[in-house]
Amino acid sequence: MNIENCLFGVALSAGQCEGAYLEDGKGLSIIDTMDQSKDRCYRRHPYPKEGVYYPSHEASDFYHHMEADLEMMHELGAQCFRTSFAWTRIFPHGDDAQINKKGIAFYDRLIDRCIAYQIEPIITLSHLEIPYDLYERYGGWEDRRFADCFVRYAKVILDHFHDRVTYFITFNEINCAIHFPYVVGVGVDRSIEPSTTMYQAMHHMFVANAEIIAYAKQRYSHLKIGCMSAVGPIYPLTPYPQDVLKAKRKERENLFASDVLVNGKYPYYTDAMFQDLGVTLTVSAEDRQLLEENRIDFLAVSYYNTNCETASENRETSSGNLFGGVKNPYLHATQWGWQIDPTGLRILLNDLSERYQGFPLMIVENGIGANDSFEDGKIHDQYRIDYLKAHLDEVEKAIEDGAELWAYTMWSFIDIISASGGQMSKRYGLVYVDRDDEGNGTNQRYRKDSFYFYQEYLKNIKKRKDTL
Ligand code: BG6
Repeated sequence: MNIENCLFGVALSAGQCEGAYLEDGKGLSIIDTMDQSKDRCYRRHPYPKEGVYYPSHEASDFYHHMEADLEMMHELGAQCFRTSFAWTRIFPHGDDAQINKKGIAFYDRLIDRCIAYQIEPIITLSHLEIPYDLYERYGGWEDRRFADCFVRYAKVILDHFHDRVTYFITFNEINCAIHFPYVVGVGVDRSIEPSTTMYQAMHHMFVANAEIIAYAKQRYSHLKIGCMSAVGPIYPLTPYPQDVLKAKRKERENLFASDVLVNGKYPYYTDAMFQDLGVTLTVSAEDRQLLEENRIDFLAVSYYNTNCETASENRETSSGNLFGGVKNPYLHATQWGWQIDPTGLRILLNDLSERYQGFPLMIVENGIGANDSFEDGKIHDQYRIDYLKAHLDEVEKAIEDGAELWAYTMWSFIDIISASGGQMSKRYGLVYVDRDDEGNGTNQRYRKDSFYFYQEYLKNIKKRKDTL
């Protein structure tokens, strides 16, 4: 493997950027019922509530800016674009008898644009766009019928797009089921203690993932189907063996989903882990066989930060993507307290390569959320450039170490609404979107300094590819 074989690009998700939440026949997604609050991903919300601002209703208005945004992506030189299709644009209630043709038409235009610009699409089938009606009816993934409806939607997408899209990711961060249950359609309110419901829901996601792979293998064997998990190394705070043990246990919880997806079976430590957690799972022999016979082609991961673990009660905590941990005295953090650790990315890619014996990987999210300041149409986001540069350096080193990396997609192309808090002010984009936390603004786009930095980087990679 060398760097020239890896696709470098950008990422977005439908629910965080598209807006147009009920336009052209789209149905309500769970994210559309979420206000702007810290615990919005954990709990069920009374909807609609008078006087409440719902950030995803308009988001970055990508739905109406798609053509111009993709033109800018082409100007950037992106080699691939990871985004999601909203299930609710295709089946507004999740299981409608008819496909919503206008929804498919939007994604047809998006994919055709990507192809015209030679940008390889990487499509996630579920990234925070869970049909609210279906959730109300079945209560979420813990009901197997819910998973059946998802598989039906996925088959429609494969049938329609298999000749233009090669890479599909069934689920964004499948382990959200135990961290952000509500937003991904798991019917429990709080995520402090992982419960049987959460793991049973995740099991149904594993089964849906395997059914989709089985379908693709029979009909469209050229497709590459992956699944995604949020992972990150967990360091022991000290060499004290109890700290090391604690870190290893946490890491295991973290890698549980990818162990199942890559190896096609529940790992050897499952029984002990479930016993500790008080979880009882129902898994049939047919399910086991299905998982075993239909493993993913690549593992997609998001990487934002690392955390430490300690057995000591005396600890300083830190936050992070999906879950926090113990503060690392050697690292700085973002304005949201996520510890910045570029070397951690190299460690992660090496760890995964070792654990899964050189299995193909994609980093489909990596970036920094920051409160950018906008001055006369300019955004001098040197911190984002520093973050990107340092992480890209480590990606290159990990590839030299031998990691089989198929893609790196930076999060995010344009500013989007934050998943955890719903703010626009936690900006991730290379492109600034004129919109604030109250929904004011023109939606006009402005290239940040980081846009030009990444453009140069991509030019360089292209040169290296062209000289091969
Ligand atoms: C990942 C999600 O967990 O983290 C993205 O897949 C999300 O959707 C990203 O945006 C960053 O998290 P946040 O909460 O800062 O938006």
